[in-house]
Order: sequence, then structure tokens, then C-alpha cells
Amino acid sequence: MQQPILSEWLLTQLSQSRFPARMPNHRRVYEAIRLAITEQILPSGCRLPSTRSLATDLGMSRNTVLAAFDQLLDEGYVAAKTGSGTYVAYNEPDEFSKNLGVARKLNHEGNIGLSRRGLIASCTANDQPGDHLSNHPNNHPSNHEVQPFTPGLDDYSKFPIALWRRLLNRQWRTLNPTLLDSSHDGGYLPLRQSIADYLRVSRAVNLTVDQVLITSGTQQSIDLCSRLLTDHDDCAWVENPCYWAARRVLEVNGLRLHPVSVDKEGMAPTTRDFRVKPRLIYTTPSHQYPKGMVMSYGRRRLLLDYAQNQGAWIIEDDYDSEFRFEGRPISSLQGMDQDGRVLYLGTFSKVMYPGIRLGYMVIPPQLVAPFRNGLYELQRPGQVMIQAALADFIEEGHFASHIRRMRQTYGERRHLLQVALAPVANAGARLSPIDSGLHLVMEFDPGIDDVHVAAMAAEQGLRVYALSNYCIGENREKGLIIGYAYAATEHITQYGNKLAEVIQTALRKH
Ligand SMILES: Cc1ncc(COP(=O)(O)O)c(C=O)c1O
Repeated sequence: MQQPILSEWLLTQLSQSRFPARMPNHRRVYEAIRLAITEQILPSGCRLPSTRSLATDLGMSRNTVLAAFDQLLDEGYVAAKTGSGTYVAYNEPDEFSKNLGVARKLNHEGNIGLSRRGLIASCTANDQPGDHLSNHPNNHPSNHEVQPFTPGLDDYSKFPIALWRRLLNRQWRTLNPTLLDSSHDGGYLPLRQSIADYLRVSRAVNLTVDQVLITSGTQQSIDLCSRLLTDHDDCAWVENPCYWAARRVLEVNGLRLHPVSVDKEGMAPTTRDFRVKPRLIYTTPSHQYPKGMVMSYGRRRLLLDYAQNQGAWIIEDDYDSEFRFEGRPISSLQGMDQDGRVLYLGTFSKVMYPGIRLGYMVIPPQLVAPFRNGLYELQRPGQVMIQAALADFIEEGHFASHIRRMRQTYGERRHLLQVALAPVANAGARLSPIDSGLHLVMEFDPGIDDVHVAAMAAEQGLRVYALSNYCIGENREKGLIIGYAYAATEHITQYGNKLAEVIQTALRKH
């Protein structure tokens, strides 16, 4: 596409509702150019206009266009050649590019104004009729629109795949054969170093690199803690409500679960609880799962002192602290621990993509040797090549910029969902004041059947979870857990309104 045409095309796109004016301009320009690249309207190797001329054509400041180009560069969609400009670097999927050979030639010849329609018209006779669909939204359903509000999922469609592929390819090119082995010593050292630096600064975790072990995610970390620190029929305190996967892992390891209620200061043990002595305490202090409150300083002290007196271990699951939208960042519980009672767990499932299956533990110094040994003998995690690419991803600053971008995306989605659900908040339902993470909780009065409400939402194609299913014992709290990460920004208000109607109907019937 020639230069004047790119700006015309961008101007047409930017006037459409998929790039709403409330989005920052650099974000709109970035999204629109990215679309042009992924839709192959701008083919690989095509030179982009200068930021100065594009800014003039779009009537925006040069800094705005520079910020959009920087992000495209960061994610590997474009590459800069010194002195010669910025070029599209995106490699389109093989099958698609084969079909579009003719179209791409036209593009390189500067067949201006060539659009998706133009590309379709230029396909060869071998193409099956029906292979190509119009741009009608129903023809391009993405997973993100199939089941909006699914809790626990991050929007991995926004993961910078081209950049990640480059980092992986780099590892394969300079292949160090030891990266093909499983990991012997707690994980790939440069990754453990990057994690240690990150945790020290961002989470006030108190550690040396020796204490960091790479695991296959939080579930595996909890499993290892259970196997190495407890015996059959030992007691584990869990928060009530509690993360279902933690509960499962503790149960299959033969632990007796003792549910401890939570209040607005987090886990709230009473004298009755203190009589049931735990070997393990599983807790989510930075963002109680699923209700979202932050554990107060007083409760943190109480738990640490109790664990020290009882010889109990605390598992701190810090699963999504990267996504905090308001207020000060919350420090880790581990950072307050003077006695080496806390095992701190983190995961890359939320920031990278769930299938990466990489997480980490920070082990108290006295447990490092048995845990390193246990990790190798019981779990033997691999993926060392991916660990190496991840170390580069963090070291080169992509991790931080990806978190920044996603925080902005999720913050916007969260706000839109809160606005859409606000009319529902009445005598029977309240939106809990969570200011971090990837989900909201709509709490109901005790008499409301949240499982039924979740089923009603499912009939409308909305996937929300019933809070009562996360609770243990009688007197289960009622409400809905509503994920906003896995719902496209441009549709979230519409889905939020639909969910609000479902909830209102349920409340009226009650
Ligand atoms: C409380 C909590 N901890 C941890 C995780 C991530 O676990 P994993 O690293 O096993 O994917 C999740 C995912 O939803 C979670 O909700």
C-alpha cells in the first residue's frame, strides 16, 4: 500500500467504533496498523511511511505516531533498518500466504487501495468457494467472543507472538545442547536471576537467586510443598472461599482442609481456628482469591507469628499481583517474614499465556536443598529452551512493557464492565470493591441461588462462575465471579449489559 493510501486507510479505520475515541491515540494508531499487518493489507517487507509524514496526514502529533511505532517494534510486527526506515516484519501463516501470492505481488507493485475485497478477488481459481468470508462480525467469531467473562483466563490473543517466536528462534539458532535436557538445579539460572531481580523490586520479596526454583506453574508448586512438607492427614488451613485448584492439590495429597473465613482484612482466623493446628497455611494475601481483598498488616503479622510459634509453613500464592489498577502496590507477605516460614509462589500463566506452564517458588533458605532435590526427583520440569527465551523476554524489557500494555487493556475492560453492571447493584447484589486482578465479584444476598444465575447467564452465552462453588461447608456465600480479561474491549459493554439483565431478572424472581 502506498504512503498516501495507508494514511487514508488508517483514517477510515480510526473513524470506526472498533477504535473508539476514548482510547489513547497512540493505541488506536498501533491497533490499526497492526490490523493492516495481520490482515495482510500491508504485506511483509512493505516500507511504512515516516512517522513525521504519517503524523501530518493523520493530524496527530509525531510523538503519538512514534509511540505506536515503538510498540509495533517491541512486538516484532515491524523492523527498523538504520537510515532506511521501518518495514513490515510480520510473517503470515504459510497457508494463507500461499493463497495470497498474486495479491501480494499486486501490493508490491503499488496497487493502491487494495483491500481485503481486492485480495479476495485476486485469488486463483483453485480456491474453494466459501474459503473466504465477508467482514461481517458473525463471520469472524474469536474465542474471546464465544464465552465472555470466563474467569481465570488472560487475553493471550494480545501476546506478542512474533516477538516471542524471534526469541525462541534465537535460542534454537545458537543452540546450547544443555537446553534440551530437563532442569537439574532448580531451573535455568539467568531466568532465576531475572525473576529474583523482578521480585526484589516489584514485590519487596527478600531473597537470593538460590532460593528461586522454576516449576511448571502454581499447581505444581503447591503439589511440591504438600509432598515435601506434610504427611498424610496433616491439617492445612485454606481461605474460605478458596482457589479450587489449590484445594484439589492439597486434598489429593491427603491433607485435611480446615476452612478459615475471610473478611475485609483477608484471612480471619478465630480462637476456634487457632485450636486446629495446621502444618500448612495456603493464602492469597495480595488479592484474596476470589473475593479480592488485600490482607491487612495486622493479619499478616498475626499469621507470621502464629506460623512461627506452631512450626507451620505459609504458602503465599501471589498469582496476579501484576494487575493492580488503583492505589499503592501491595508488598509480599514473604518480605515481612523474619523466620523463614513463607514459601512464595508466582506464575507466568497470567502475564504470558496459560499454556506456558511455568511458575516459580521462593523457598526459605533452610529448605532450598530438599526442595531442589524434590523438584528434580518428583517433577523434573523441562522447557529449559522456553525458560531461556523467557529470560531474554524479561531482560530485554518486553515483560515489563507487556505488563504495562495489558494493565491498560484490562483496566479499561474492568471499568467498562463496572459501568455496565452498576445498575444491578441494589438491595440484593453488590459489586465488591476489587481494585486488582482479572475478575470482579458480584455478591448476592444469601437467599439467591447463584448456581442458577450462572446457568441463566450460560444460556445467554456468558460464562460466569458461582461464588458458592468456591466455598467450603454450610453457609456458602452467594455471588458471581466475572472475568473481564477474556472479553474483547469493543464488546464488553454489550455483554455486561446482557449479564446485568440476567442478574436483574434473577433478583426480580427472588
Ligand atoms: C489463585 C490462583 N493461583 C494461581 C493460578 C495460576 O496457576 P497456574 O500457574 O497453575 O496456571 C490461578 C489461575 O487461575 C489462580 O486463580
